[in-house]
Amino acid sequence: MAGEIDIEMIGEDVPLLEGIRTACAIRRLRPDPVPRALIRKVCEAGTFAPSGGNRQPWIFVAVTDQERRAWIAERYRRVFDAYIAPARQAAEAPGHSPEKRKIMEAGIHLAAHLHEAPVHLVIAGWTRRGAPQTQALFPAIQNVLLACRAVGLGASLTTVHLAFREELDRYLGLPETQPSSALLPIGWPRVPYRRPVRRPIDECLFFERAD
Ligand SMILES: Cc1cc2nc3c(=O)[nH]c(=O)nc-3n(C[C@H](O)[C@H](O)[C@H](O)COP(=O)(O)O)c2cc1C
Repeated sequence: MAGEIDIEMIGEDVPLLEGIRTACAIRRLRPDPVPRALIRKVCEAGTFAPSGGNRQPWIFVAVTDQERRAWIAERYRRVFDAYIAPARQAAEAPGHSPEKRKIMEAGIHLAAHLHEAPVHLVIAGWTRRGAPQTQALFPAIQNVLLACRAVGLGASLTTVHLAFREELDRYLGLPETQPSSALLPIGWPRVPYRRPVRRPIDECLFFERAD
């Protein structure tokens, strides 16, 4: 796959709003490797995000080594399994939407196959008064997700690793002053992009007042 890709051109033709409207979470990924230049391209898109005072607090750590991905996946799965039973019951409860059930199934699939995702992209950033500034990273995280959509990579945003963040950060060589906030499993999608299910805009948009 790598040989066929023109990294400079790939994704440049996707209209912005169409990309935004079809950037659904993709949790079913092929194990085929992703060229480093393409990982660089989607992370570079992340760096065009706004940040307070343009401090650009982000660090991207792309884990591609198989053993290191297995290390992360094993811990992710352990945490996920500890919470999965109640979550699965909730998703299967009568009256629950098929959409909720689909998300749960995709989450279960991701937890079981995380080690196969060729890129575990960890996004970390500076702390402020000792606390992680996760919100400062979210514009960059969303940019990476959108860039993945544009270049045809599948990706999703996960935070399960926060349950073992300190251990993960040590493993990745992240200093305490730059803790991780998100883990994006990235790879070539096994399923097509689709327009995700959302509440109609007219239910959430108000002018002047919200009542
Ligand atoms: C703050 C935040 C944390 C999330 N954590 C996880 C997670 O740990 N695991 C996961 O599979 N998805 C996680 N997601 C992704 C959501 O489940 C996803 O955005 C939602 O299901 C909508 O998906 P869609 O765009 O495909 O409709 C998270 C999203 C956000 C904004």
